[in-house]
Amino acid sequence: MQSTLTISGKTRVFGCISDPISHVRAPSVFNPLFEKHGVDAVMVPLHVPPEGLDTAIAGLRAMANFGGMAVTLPHKLAIMKHCDEIGRQGQLVGAVNFVAFDAQRRLIGDNCDGSGFVNGMLAAGYAVKGTEALMVGAGGAARAIAFSLADSGVKRLGIANRTEAKAVELADAVRAAYPNVPVEVCAVDPRGFETVINATSLGLNEADSLPLDPALLAPAQLMAEVIMNPVDTPILRAATAKGCRIHYGRPMFDHQVTIIAKLFGYDFPIEK
Ligand SMILES: NC(=O)c1ccc[n+]([C@@H]2O[C@H](COP(=O)([O-])OP(=O)(O)OC[C@H]3O[C@@H](n4cnc5c(N)ncnc54)[C@H](OP(=O)(O)O)[C@@H]3O)[C@@H](O)[C@H]2O)c1
Repeated sequence: MQSTLTISGKTRVFGCISDPISHVRAPSVFNPLFEKHGVDAVMVPLHVPPEGLDTAIAGLRAMANFGGMAVTLPHKLAIMKHCDEIGRQGQLVGAVNFVAFDAQRRLIGDNCDGSGFVNGMLAAGYAVKGTEALMVGAGGAARAIAFSLADSGVKRLGIANRTEAKAVELADAVRAAYPNVPVEVCAVDPRGFETVINATSLGLNEADSLPLDPALLAPAQLMAEVIMNPVDTPILRAATAKGCRIHYGRPMFDHQVTIIAKLFGYDFPIEK
């Protein structure tokens, strides 16, 4: 499709800050959305090495037409000290993945990995509140998802991870923030849970081992994934073969885009 994007003196500028930069996806997601919704804005990649972050933020704060940015590694933690306000999920996770300047040029940051996952589940018609969920993984994505599941009122949350110490630390943190939610560190055994979530990176590569034994899955269970590419990960294929319902990784991403766009001041509904 021929781009009709025209940059003028009125165009608002957004960014995606990262180092390295060539792999970032946000500009190729947001620019078509700006165009589709008739929004006079552009998102550009901002290649900022760690040692340049302080200078970059000071410069961006001074640019009145710079609205905000998606934040990726290595800046997700380091940028927090520049934020004037951090949302609850960002505080709990200890990392932000987007920031926006408000009218007073205050920098507001938050983390929407977990709310993106939960919103994606709800939009697909799956319950979160009152359900028993096993999450495999305790890395960055899992951490965000755990707090959001607790925030959404899961009845019971099991966390299983290869490095058990990380699961223990995460379970303690979730319990401290949500004392009414029963959280346990457990084996990678989905039996007894309604929802099973692969929040590891296992499945990105076809040669990866499975995150859990599909023989232990039952048809009544929902197998959810965080990986977007490939779409049909080996564990989703195995769960389908067992008669389980499955939930793809893509909605988590799509719902994060909607959340970030909202903080930027735009309403971009999810496309069906
Ligand atoms: N759909 C979305 O919008 C979205 C958003 C963010 C991330 N993601 C996806 O989420 C996945 C995880 O990302 P992340 O940022 O959380 O990564 P991360 O912080 O590096 O965590 C990786 C997790 O996978 C586990 N793991 C890795 N290799 C393993 C192996 N061989 N055996 C057992 N466990 C293994 C790790 O266990 P240890 O702790 O033992 O190392 C850890 O729990 C990635 O595939 C990413 O693409 C998707």
